[in-house]
Amino acid sequence: MTDSMAREIIQRKKEEYGESLIILCHHYQSDDIIAYADFIGDSLELARKASRIGRAEHVVFCGVYFMAESAAILAPGKSVYIPDRDAGCPLADMAPEGAVLKAWDALKEIADSVIPVSYVNSSAAIKAFCGRNSGTICTSGNALKVFEWAYSKADRIFFLPDMNLGRNTARGMGIPDDLIALWDPEKDLGGLDEETLMKARIILWKGWCPVHWPRFTPEDVSSVRAGCPGIRVIVHPETDPRTVAAADMSGSTANILNCVSRMSPGESLAIGTEANMVKRAASANPQLRIVPLKEVYCDDMARITMEKLADTLLHLEDDTYRVSVPGDTARHAFAALANMLKI
Ligand code: 13P
Ligand code: SF4
Repeated sequence: MTDSMAREIIQRKKEEYGESLIILCHHYQSDDIIAYADFIGDSLELARKASRIGRAEHVVFCGVYFMAESAAILAPGKSVYIPDRDAGCPLADMAPEGAVLKAWDALKEIADSVIPVSYVNSSAAIKAFCGRNSGTICTSGNALKVFEWAYSKADRIFFLPDMNLGRNTARGMGIPDDLIALWDPEKDLGGLDEETLMKARIILWKGWCPVHWPRFTPEDVSSVRAGCPGIRVIVHPETDPRTVAAADMSGSTANILNCVSRMSPGESLAIGTEANMVKRAASANPQLRIVPLKEVYCDDMARITMEKLADTLLHLEDDTYRVSVPGDTARHAFAALANMLKI
């Protein structure tokens, strides 16, 4: 299918389905896809939107699989589709259910008063594990608030799968590094001893986003500052804590865009996150100087193309692109996600 055929199909199907179709897009999608979005957001905004879809019956999610899965869980009466099921997330894949349950059982034997919190970048099974154990979910947009809630329920958090978001948030709350334990799923007891686990305020799963870590470094921050005196630097909290410390600010994709909207003409900002969003912010704001801290792309987000979106819209009446989550998993994952949306 050529791009012009795909464009024609997408346009025609959008008109045909009208209000019974909604296309949700994550900020990391390419401009080609964003052009057809009815709603664009970060993970938190997309989860909120999915929980309040309103009239639309068909929800097409342009993002990665865990996001579409979360939408399907949060919008149980709707049909949710993703244009490529293989648009995964390597970070989410770093926390397979079996290894997490094994770690949880071992941890519970040693440390009491522990609550599981998973980053939304995780499978439905991991979200269900949190729901079954009175835990919750967070995104990069609400991690601090969610951690505060979790500490009102328990003395320690078992956080997965992103060690960087976990450490950045914990440090932001003033938790010292010696009370932050790193659980390596490749090692017995996570490579930790009982004393470390008993005193830890947070136990981080050793997972990371390969787009953000270790790609953005403190050296990138110093070199952009050297090349453009006065430039401010904002990075996503999936980056290395040393990079977050070197930057001026950190925030989710929506927070980064809010920061851009508050800038005055002539100001400069380097952004450390996926480059599609950074370049779009730069071209939408010619009065500012916006540069990528480093030009990196998420290959999984890029799997969503116009051709696949067009084919999805041709198959809304069958299961080709439909995302479904088994009943029991969906029920417990819903509890964890709904809990997050209340915090
Ligand atoms: P946001 O929650 O900031 O949208 O980030 C999602 C993500 O996948 C970042 O890598
Ligand atoms: Fe996953 Fe990283 Fe891609 Fe986000 S940017 S979807 S965390 S691999």
